[in-house]
Order: sequence, then structure tokens, then C-alpha cells
Amino acid sequence: MDRIRRAEEDDHARIVEAIGTWWSDSRSPQAARELSMLVPRLFLQHFAGTSFVIERDGGFLGFLVGFVSQDHPEQAYVHFVGVDPARRRGGVARRLYEAFFDIARQAGCTTVKCVTSPVNTGSVGFHRRMGFSLVPGDHEVDGLPVQGDYDGLGQDRVCFVRELA
Ligand SMILES: CC(C)(COP(=O)(O)OP(=O)(O)OC[C@H]1O[C@@H](n2cnc3c(N)ncnc32)[C@H](O)[C@@H]1OP(=O)(O)O)[C@@H](O)C(=O)NCCC(=O)NCCS
Repeated sequence: MDRIRRAEEDDHARIVEAIGTWWSDSRSPQAARELSMLVPRLFLQHFAGTSFVIERDGGFLGFLVGFVSQDHPEQAYVHFVGVDPARRRGGVARRLYEAFFDIARQAGCTTVKCVTSPVNTGSVGFHRRMGFSLVPGDHEVDGLPVQGDYDGLGQDRVCFVRELA
């Protein structure tokens, strides 16, 4: 039985390991390790209460790292989400997002935001299905609104926003 629970600091090592493994089909081992640096331990020290993992028989199936904005308390933000490739398209990420939406609502948030890379068309499709709108960009790539250099030179992003009813 799949079990969802709040994340804990001790989950950090397994999240790093999961990123290195789950992304190895689409990236070199080195690039997958570099990706895991987007989730340093501090997220599990300071935002575990708004982050979730789903596991089965002690093994990770997926995780979501998110938080309520310190500067904009009405906004929640999904920083990173990942699902075991063997378990994708089975509702794991939907469950993680719905748990996050619930606690964001309880915290008084009215919107959820996140970003993805324009090449990550799977993420764009997923977020659209989850009710997110695409924020207008400064140019388009394959019909997607893109914010150029959003995260630094050459680091373009597609930005999403979803109202919390
Ligand atoms: C994006 C990701 C998190 C989706 O996880 P998942 O568990 O497969 O998603 P779910 O099964 O919960 O799907 C929820 C909805 O999104 C849709 N969806 C999922 N992946 C999709 C895709 N690649 N393209 C289009 N729609 C997609 C599903 O069909 C489902 O719709 P429905 O419930 O209306 O039928 C997963 O593919 C993943 O880990 N990708 C790599 C990491 C990544 O890109 N993260 C996001 C950026 S940090």
C-alpha cells in the first residue's frame, strides 16, 4: 500500500539518491548528481513540514519539496517534484500536489506557483492537467510562453500559477 507522509530531515539522503537514479535515463550520472544539488539539505531542515514523500514497503515512489513564501504569505511554491519512472502516470504526483494544496490552503495561501524548463514538456503537460496556468513570458518556444534568463544567463523558464479554491 502506498503511504504518503510529511518529509523529514532524514529523507534528504534518499531524495538525493532518488534524483541520481530516477533521472539517469535522461541525463548522464554526473548531470543527475548535479540536479540533486537543487535540493540541498536545508529544504529538509526548514521546509519538511510543507514537503511530502510517498513510499511503499520502505522504498520511495515520489517526493514533493514545497513551502509557503516568507515574503508573500498568500503564495505557496513547489520547488521540486519527482516520481519513480516506473510509477509515473499512476497518480503519485497528483496525490503529492493535492496534499500540498491542502496544507497551503490551511496556511491561508490563495495561489501556488512553480517553474520548469521549456524543454520539460512532460512537466508542462502535467502542470496543465493539474490546473496550472502558464504565466505570459517575454518570448515563445514551440508555442510556450517563456521567461528568458529567468534563473540566470540561458536559464529560461516556463512559469505556472494555480489558484487555490
Ligand atoms: C511530472 C511528474 C512529476 C508527473 O508525475 P506522475 O506521477 O506521473 O503524474 P500523475 O500520474 O499524478 O499525473 C497527474 C495528471 O497529469 C497528467 N500527466 C502526467 N504526466 C504527464 C505528461 N508527461 N504529459 C502530459 N500529462 C501528464 C496525467 O495524465 C494526470 O492527468 P489525469 O489525472 O487528468 O489523468 C513525473 O513525470 C516526473 O517525475 N517527471 C520528472 C521530474 C519533473 O519533470 N518534475 C517537474 C519539474 S521539477
